[in-house]
Amino acid sequence: MNNKLVDKFGRSYKYLRISVTDRCNFRCKYCMPQHNFKMLSHQDILSYEDIIFIVKTLTEVGIEKIRITGGEPLVRKNISYMFEQLGKIEKIKDLTLTTNGSLLKKYAKVIFDSGVRRINISLDSLKDDRYEYITGGFNLKHIIDSINYAKSIGFNPIKINVVAIKGFNDDEILDFCDFAAKNSFNVRFIEFMPLESSIEWKKENILTGKEIIDIISKQYEVKKIDKNKYSGPSEDYLLSNGAKIGIITPISNHFCNSCDKLRLTADGKLRPCLLSNYEVDLKPAIINSDKELLLKLINDSLNLKYEKHSVDCSENNSKNGKYGRNMFEIGG
Ligand code: 5AD
Ligand code: SF4
Repeated sequence: MNNKLVDKFGRSYKYLRISVTDRCNFRCKYCMPQHNFKMLSHQDILSYEDIIFIVKTLTEVGIEKIRITGGEPLVRKNISYMFEQLGKIEKIKDLTLTTNGSLLKKYAKVIFDSGVRRINISLDSLKDDRYEYITGGFNLKHIIDSINYAKSIGFNPIKINVVAIKGFNDDEILDFCDFAAKNSFNVRFIEFMPLESSIEWKKENILTGKEIIDIISKQYEVKKIDKNKYSGPSEDYLLSNGAKIGIITPISNHFCNSCDKLRLTADGKLRPCLLSNYEVDLKPAIINSDKELLLKLINDSLNLKYEKHSVDCSENNSKNGKYGRNMFEIGG
């Protein structure tokens, strides 16, 4: 059972993102519809034992990096147990978390003790009213306190994910660069992607990576930093104010050729590409703890994977069911 996970384009897969729940206490407008959305029912959600079975099997064929996502992963009951169990799997070299930060005061310590060091926190505005608007009513100060608490526990690096949206936060790019420098956070600007969501995705709303760098260059010297094994799809820069920032360009400059990522949804589907709507249901293998079948299904999902996704800066990307899921159902 030492077949490594390699697809027909020669990409090998080392990284699994696990959405442990599609529930979220936030209602970010680019991620969740505000009305009429359906959540998964409890019977459809993988148990922690199911997830651990999948992870253990995948670590035998090359997966070594795991990121826990949601919805908001920390709203799932007994999530500490999940981290503790994953923390014991030796073949996982890097266990990480993406969160909205709201429950860090409760869970940061136990997550840290399970071995997590690197966390990503979504934060799209540094202005109270905008933060409240985009998240559906949450308090910015509370989140910043929580992030600082996580820092005091020892998480490092702390990456701040900012979805860059023209007409919403494009005038805050420099504020975020100052925020990064002052707090030693790594701020990463992510181009707005057109999944199903409530804010209508329009090409006019995309702030491209290049536009972001242009804004920053007017104020600071921008020096590219070589990629390290934790950079992922981000292009990283050091600014003359000391800030470390990253730019993630799924729309204007695809990074599909270096993709090493698989995504597991909370209902047990393996989705090999975020922006393409095909998935393989792993449940038939999970029900009988059938490792051979699980590996076959995982390989099937790799064979489905295209060379690159088809989303770009054009008008034709509007949703209309094209992506099949909202972001909260995939976990980024
Ligand atoms: N476009 C870009 N990024 C998004 N995220 C959620 N929805 C979108 C979108 N439509 C981000 C979240 C989170 C990360 C996992 O994905 O802000 O930080
Ligand atoms: Fe929740 Fe994150 Fe989606 Fe916001 S972006 S609604 S915090 S899952």
